Amino acid sequence: MPESDAWNARYELGSIPWDLGRAHPELETRLALDPSLGLAAVGTALVPGAGTGHDAAALAQAGWRVTAIDIAPAVEGALLRRLEADRASVVIGDSLEIENAGPFDLVFDHTFFCAIDLENRPRFGTMVDRMLTRAGSLISVVFPIGKPMSDGGPPWGFDTGDIANALGEGFVLEEEAGHMRLAGRRWPYAWTRWVRRSE
Ligand SMILES: C[S@@+](CC[C@H](N)C(=O)[O-])C[C@H]1O[C@@H](n2cnc3c(N)ncnc32)[C@H](O)[C@@H]1O
Repeated sequence: MPESDAWNARYELGSIPWDLGRAHPELETRLALDPSLGLAAVGTALVPGAGTGHDAAALAQAGWRVTAIDIAPAVEGALLRRLEADRASVVIGDSLEIENAGPFDLVFDHTFFCAIDLENRPRFGTMVDRMLTRAGSLISVVFPIGKPMSDGGPPWGFDTGDIANALGEGFVLEEEAGHMRLAGRRWPYAWTRWVRRSE
């Protein structure tokens, strides 16, 4: 079964335990304190693997001009409904292949990196590099931290070092806060922000 069909089937069955029914609480808290999330200003944001769009909607309501992309056609209706009031774009397609969009000031990853196959992690890095402006940031909610690879996936366990490897030498970790836990989630998470290495 193609990967997109497998994700689509989960949405059609309503078997989506990853969906918090709201934006990630850490994102909500940070947006309330600082809508720019530590960047120079509120700008354009790409949300890959956006699911039903809670995080994308929170960013849009904070003033970000959002592009939400997901591979599962079943989420299109939810994304359009959730984002219709804001200046947002919805794309159904492969986030790792996205090209004719951006560049963006922010790429926001929450449970997308952990959802992709391990061999695709380098492609996540090249997508971020391709999609970000020179001064842009990747924010990745690193989760599930500590989940053994022997447990399988998705979600595949990962840590900050796996994002560093995917991004390569061109990026550095600007901010890290963790390890924190959300009620109902077994593994901790960390909030990380990555920027391009200065030349
Ligand atoms: C674990 S879910 C997380 C969804 C959302 N970020 C959330 O927190 O509710 C992973 C999402 O990534 C999507 N996805 C998986 N591979 C993808 C790809 N290559 N391109 C775009 N979306 C993808 C799935 O359809 C699914 O919506």
